[in-house]
Amino acid sequence: MHIVHTLSELRQALQGAQRPSFVATMGNLHAGHLALVEQARPLGDATVASIFVNRLQFLPHEDFDSYPRTFEPDCAKLREAGCDLVFAPREQDLYPEPQTFKVVPDAALADLLEGEFRPGFFTGVATVVMKLFMAVFAGKAQGVAVFGKKDYQQLMVIRRMVRQFALPIEIVAGETRRAEDGLALSSRNNYLNPAERDEALQLQLALRTLARDALAAAHALPDKLPALEAAARLGLAARGWQPDYLTVRRRADLLPPQTGDGAGQLVALGAARLGGTRLIDNLEI
Ligand code: PAF
Repeated sequence: MHIVHTLSELRQALQGAQRPSFVATMGNLHAGHLALVEQARPLGDATVASIFVNRLQFLPHEDFDSYPRTFEPDCAKLREAGCDLVFAPREQDLYPEPQTFKVVPDAALADLLEGEFRPGFFTGVATVVMKLFMAVFAGKAQGVAVFGKKDYQQLMVIRRMVRQFALPIEIVAGETRRAEDGLALSSRNNYLNPAERDEALQLQLALRTLARDALAAAHALPDKLPALEAAARLGLAARGWQPDYLTVRRRADLLPPQTGDGAGQLVALGAARLGGTRLIDNLEI
């Protein structure tokens, strides 16, 4: 496995590849990331993973400085997972000057849910992903990138970006990896103390209850859903969480369901803070 830091090293290393397959990460890798790499491997002729903690997608009060940087163990895990090439740019490699041109995603998709509570988040994500795509796929007739469903809205933003800019990149979704008890794997789980770690599963349980209740009310979902969502938020709040949202949306556009929307078309999404840690999860219904 090669490890490169600069764009020119990356392009050199990828010279012989016709169809790279790519997984973008911010490092601090867990089994969920490695499953994406394993999924990417048979899809291309060179498997590339990036490790870059992207300042642009963090708000000033968020955890950019304290985000765990675990480069050596990450590389060992990627090697084990069969990755061919790690692209680990330093900040000056990816942002040699202040990034004043940005990719601003469609507000109808990017300003709701995560975008409402983390303003500018998806502009930061779309901008860095576009830069990473340009780095990995420049000069290639085609490529493939795998993104996890754990970040459901992010996956949708990237899909729409690729479609709108007609990038010759196939976007493939990876299923969310979960711990044995059902907690979605996330680098931010490392912030949880043991009691919080036990409690953390309640977010997924709240989504399951909300999904069940939403299906039971499918005949009148637009009318019934606000009360079901409020009950889900209150349930978590009563356990000491600070919920941002627990909601059921249409998979197609993440807008509230209309009459007639039902199983196979919906997704329950949630974000809530437990102690100092903000967790997100979702469940396709
Ligand atoms: O999902 C992530 O880890 C990040 O948002 C990504 C896609 C690597 C962009 O920085």
